[in-house]
Amino acid sequence: MGYKEQIDINRLPVHIAIIMDGNGRWAKNQGKFRVFGHESGVLSVKDIVEGCVDIGIKYLTVYAFSAENWNRPIDEVNALMELLISTINNEAETLNKNNVRLNAIGDLKSLPQKCIDDLANVMEITSKNTKCTLTLALSYSAKWEIIEAAKKLITQVQSQEINLEDINEEVFAAQLTTHHIPDPELMIRTSGEHRVSNFLLWQIAYTELYFTETLWPDFRREDLFEAIVDFQKRERRFGKISEQLN
Ligand code: IPE
Ligand code: IPE
Ligand code: MG
Repeated sequence: MGYKEQIDINRLPVHIAIIMDGNGRWAKNQGKFRVFGHESGVLSVKDIVEGCVDIGIKYLTVYAFSAENWNRPIDEVNALMELLISTINNEAETLNKNNVRLNAIGDLKSLPQKCIDDLANVMEITSKNTKCTLTLALSYSAKWEIIEAAKKLITQVQSQEINLEDINEEVFAAQLTTHHIPDPELMIRTSGEHRVSNFLLWQIAYTELYFTETLWPDFRREDLFEAIVDFQKRERRFGKISEQLN
């Protein structure tokens, strides 16, 4: 039996987040340039989005470019930005066909203007789609996001829009870039690295983490389904004991 058949569709994670890692090593393993790995990684994104649509995952968030990734060699950064621009434009039609809405989080204003404009355009033309929301984390840093949220709240307290005493988890989360998205139940990282690399720190407080050795360009929907089957075997206790569940 394949992994897809083992999935209980009544207990699907609503939101899956993925740290897509290993493109560079995948290319290097074949004696190719790193950018070839990034290009191949786009095919994985396409397959995973379609896999999510196929089984009914409502939210998929992928870490495409971190704030720290600006520190890579300039040629690689430029190639990634160009790949981003060509991919969002090439995929707009398929996103619409699959009823997928495109969204983006991160310090978007630091992206090249063409990227900002094309992203806004594709987000607009897919904004009515309802099957799945695909969020690209671009120039994203969770610490940056949390600081931005804190600044917004401080400003609101100073202008007496809200009282300091009224700030709670819900009020804080409403200031994050993910305010309209539920926290992910499952986070996947490919390529054998066991770290979070400044991704969604607030939102993953109770997320199930899944690590695989598979490099991102080799990751396909069957690997996603395997991760979901693994997720569904876990007992999520949220601080309680087993006997209190059910
Ligand atoms: C992930 O693959 C893609 C981005 C971070 C943009 P990497 O480029 O980090 O690949 P490795 O980790 O060097 O193999
Ligand atoms: C994390 O991968 C960022 C993305 C997948 C976009 P990195 O490859 O940049 O992370 P580190 O540097 O190995 O932690
Ligand atoms: Mg990496």
